[in-house]
Amino acid sequence: MPEAEVAASGATTGSDPLWWRQSLVYQIYPRSFADANGDGIGDLRGVTSRIPYLTQLGVDAVWLSPFYPSALADGGYDVDDYRDVDPRIGTLRDFEQMVAALHAVGIRILIDIVPNHSSDRHAWFREALAGAPGSPARARYIFRDGRGADGSLPPDDLTSLFGGSAWERITEPHGTPGQWYFHFFAKEQPDFNWDNPEVHEDFLRTLRFWSDRGVDGFRVDVAHGLKKDMDAVERGGWTTDPEEVFAREGHPLWDRDDVHDVYAEWRRVFDEYDPPRMAVAETWVPLHRMTRYAAPEGLGQAFNFDLLKADFDAVQFRRIIDSSLDFATASGASTTWVLSNHDVVRHATRYGLPKGASRTGRGTDGVDWLFSGGDPAEVDAAAGLRRARAATLLMLALPGSAYIYQGEELGLQEVGQLPDAVRQDPIFHRNAGVEVGRDGCRVPLPWEPEGPSFGFGADGSHLPQPAWFRDYAVSTQDTDPASTLNFYRRALALRHDLQGAETLAWRASGSPDVLHFERPNGWQVVANFGTAPVPLPPGDVLVASSPLDGGVLPGETSVWLRS
Ligand code: GLC
Ligand code: CA
Repeated sequence: MPEAEVAASGATTGSDPLWWRQSLVYQIYPRSFADANGDGIGDLRGVTSRIPYLTQLGVDAVWLSPFYPSALADGGYDVDDYRDVDPRIGTLRDFEQMVAALHAVGIRILIDIVPNHSSDRHAWFREALAGAPGSPARARYIFRDGRGADGSLPPDDLTSLFGGSAWERITEPHGTPGQWYFHFFAKEQPDFNWDNPEVHEDFLRTLRFWSDRGVDGFRVDVAHGLKKDMDAVERGGWTTDPEEVFAREGHPLWDRDDVHDVYAEWRRVFDEYDPPRMAVAETWVPLHRMTRYAAPEGLGQAFNFDLLKADFDAVQFRRIIDSSLDFATASGASTTWVLSNHDVVRHATRYGLPKGASRTGRGTDGVDWLFSGGDPAEVDAAAGLRRARAATLLMLALPGSAYIYQGEELGLQEVGQLPDAVRQDPIFHRNAGVEVGRDGCRVPLPWEPEGPSFGFGADGSHLPQPAWFRDYAVSTQDTDPASTLNFYRRALALRHDLQGAETLAWRASGSPDVLHFERPNGWQVVANFGTAPVPLPPGDVLVASSPLDGGVLPGETSVWLRS
């Protein structure tokens, strides 16, 4: 038994199999969190060194985005080896020590599993390149002959979700131009063939590998993408335009019913452990299609991005809360709430954009789902942060599990103005001049107001931090009672008292801009989405998202009350 597992069995995380239902999960983007050895890249020892910060914040679990060996063609979502740690980030031993140290303070850990595609440096893909057309090595991926007399045209016109063709031509071992392979994302991310039993077996091995090392659960990347019927695409005239992939149901390459056979297999592995390992599906599918991913015989939980896609608007929030709680009942899972992650513009910035503004960066080519930009000149940062705090406090009071993203507890804004030369995101590189990509939410955290990388590491950071990051530093906010950091700490500490029955009761608020509900412990939650102050219901104020003024609830402010 590995050392971390030994430590885990005596840990303070306990054996409650349903621990995840109302947990607060903090997403760490490892390369941008904390850099222990000062090479400019965040690392696992950096995470371990900041465990006191996580404890004080009051998180129940952390989710680490990929830390595997990777050329970083897509921020680590291009995995070279699923059962190792990138040497620039640490070692397996560092990983085990990190898990043991997290468990020792009662924090659980989820890791990211990327099953839709590997990187083009994965041993299997290299074997596929070295093999012949039709060989077993090629059958682990999706290879096809090109069209035209010399096969120089791609097999079809399918496009990548990151822009450009979804097909890349290879050079055969003897040096001639050869077959093509399919990639839904960047060309460095060849899609696996999930009709191949070897692919199934290998992922079961990976799930056991990490579960044996004490990992409590998995976040499953593009969970709806795995199963594909390439021939049906041709026959049915389907495209892979984001509009069609995200909006038209029944797509042969997306959210197919047979993907659930994969997760039934995974569930059997999760249930080999005590407590069973949990999983949360990344699913950009409509709520009614999400039920099976979240079902107990499937992955057990799914990201619900409806709130993240909404405006700061009472009517939209009310509708989404109701439908999400209905979804939770239908699936048997708890619902999840997300306002920010590593793929979208930070919500303190999104809410500072003029209402209805394009959230797609420099242009509008329809890739709206990533919200990959926002013109910094248009952002009202103060209003954005005020609304973000109000929306967050509302979210944290809801039944279900909340996922927060590193830096949001600092009120951090999106970095809108990175020089093109430092941008890393393949979305930028495949759509230069149109999409700015997702680097703006991945800039390393400011821990101190001074120093070459604001305390992130010794010397510089892999994405440059703007000068204004100093205003958001952890150490400054730590001692300021009114800081966003202390606001999050207070709310997260109080939130444990809300974790009884997973229900809420709406109360009449007297205004279409105000939402008011009561939780089973008797706490009242009131969110004023309008700009005008409204009367504050009676009760002791537990926490408010902005300073209160006498007996009124100011505009764009939420409050928790005990009556
Ligand atoms: C998911 C990840 C995103 C990544 C993509 C391809 O959407 O969250 O960061 O680029 O999958 O792996
Ligand atoms: Ca480092």
